[in-house]
Amino acid sequence: MLGTGAYARVYKGTWENTTVAIKLFKRSKRLSTSFYEFRHEITIQNALNHPNIAKIFGFSLNPLALVLEFIPCGTLREFLEESQTIKTKLKLRIAKDLAKALNFMHQLSPPMAHLDIKSPNILLCDGWITSEDLPVVKLIDFGCAQPILSPLSNFSVDNPTWASPEMIAAKPLTEKADVYSFGLVLWELVTHLVPFQEYSFFIEIANAVTEGKRPTIDPSSCHPLFREIIIICWDQEPSKRPAFPQILSKLHQIQALEEP
Ligand SMILES: Nc1ncnc2c1ncn2[C@@H]1O[C@H](COP(=O)(O)OP(=O)(O)O)[C@@H](O)[C@H]1O
Ligand SMILES: [Mg+2]
Repeated sequence: MLGTGAYARVYKGTWENTTVAIKLFKRSKRLSTSFYEFRHEITIQNALNHPNIAKIFGFSLNPLALVLEFIPCGTLREFLEESQTIKTKLKLRIAKDLAKALNFMHQLSPPMAHLDIKSPNILLCDGWITSEDLPVVKLIDFGCAQPILSPLSNFSVDNPTWASPEMIAAKPLTEKADVYSFGLVLWELVTHLVPFQEYSFFIEIANAVTEGKRPTIDPSSCHPLFREIIIICWDQEPSKRPAFPQILSKLHQIQALEEP
């Protein structure tokens, strides 16, 4: 088994002589609910063709399973837990890859919001050490993704750790919810920690985020521009959060300053 989430167990398998990941959906109490979630995820992921997004190869109806591109090096969460330090250059590559995937999704018409951006849904590829052109990370898990034709209401949150204040408050939301979560992933890249670990219960996280509380960033732990990006991304007010073209240009700026 490769991993498990709230909705599925994921196994390594073979399909037409290729190693693949098989996402086997857990049975929900009502079979129709799991089928609906399954169909939704296939339709969305199948339409997303980008080097930083895991591809979907096929599916099975009995059992309900997706056949996905196998991404071999574990989740970003595991990587951050296993490594003491990660070079700034690599952190910038990871941040840029994720920003590129989200920029692609948000520039579709209508914009596609992922709505479950977090380090366990970001996987590490191989081969990138030797080639600057290969992707370092790919985004997975499109089970919550939604097209944003107009602000979405009735979105329910299972785990508030990476959820934006408007998501937690069940207010209408847009793709700017992804920008908030992206800010938290950047904070994870700096600290290697899971956000809001100081709280024991989800309700405490939900209350803190609603009140505008955010994790702290030691100014000496990252480039001042990187800190600046994190802080604007997790702004309480969604319209004040930047869009991904602006985030990407700031990341390029830091990269240019870091390179000799
Ligand atoms: N394409 C893949 N390649 C390798 N591992 C994967 C892949 N997809 C998922 N996984 C592993 O399975 C876990 C759960 O998958 P995910 O799609 O996030 O399920 P859920 O919808 O239940 O959260 C991931 O965190 C990861 O460890
Ligand atoms: Mg997941």
